[in-house]
Amino acid sequence: MQPSDLEEVLRISEECFNSDAWSRQAFEKEFNLDYSYRFVLEEDGEVIGYAVVWQIYDEATIMSIAIKKDRWGKGYGKRLMKFLIEYFKGKVSRFVLDVRRSNIRAIRLYQSIGFKIISERRGYYSDGEDAFQMTLELEENGGDKGKAFEAVNTGG
Ligand SMILES: CC(C)(COP(=O)(O)OP(=O)(O)OC[C@H]1O[C@@H](n2cnc3c(N)ncnc32)[C@H](O)[C@@H]1OP(=O)(O)O)[C@@H](O)C(=O)NCCC(=O)NCCS
Repeated sequence: MQPSDLEEVLRISEECFNSDAWSRQAFEKEFNLDYSYRFVLEEDGEVIGYAVVWQIYDEATIMSIAIKKDRWGKGYGKRLMKFLIEYFKGKVSRFVLDVRRSNIRAIRLYQSIGFKIISERRGYYSDGEDAFQMTLELEENGGDKGKAFEAVNTGG
């Protein structure tokens, strides 16, 4: 993700997250954090998704991930997740994330690549909804069970 991607990233965040959407300032702050890694998924030069990941010690925390709404259900979310796993393989032991209990689509996506629910955080979100904390343990050698790697840039 480059600063020039911000407009499109903000649009995607707003259409996907309603009250949980990050502000421009929140995204801008990420560019100054040395533990923050920011990615965009592009197709034919168009930004169609993004992810923000914090790498702290041996954990990668997915802080935000979204795919443009009109592209949902076409495998882009899984592709981006697999790219992140490949990118952080050998650098971290596990991935962690929080997801709204009602976000079945995201939960299924995470489960389909091996994430497990490890705890429930009651009333975690500002509207009172619970979160599931999910993790994916990577193998000792930094590998994971899902081997498929696909380039993040799906354009030509
Ligand atoms: C969650 C999100 C990133 C998934 O992206 P996506 O591109 O739609 O996901 P994919 O098409 O790669 O689907 C991956 C998996 O999600 C699940 N899934 C896809 N469509 C689904 C649907 N309609 N209902 C339930 N699960 C669904 C399936 O398990 C699918 O795996 P499969 O194709 O092997 O069955 C996307 O929907 C999104 O941006 N949502 C809003 C933001 C958000 O909730 N982010 C996560 C916050 S923790």
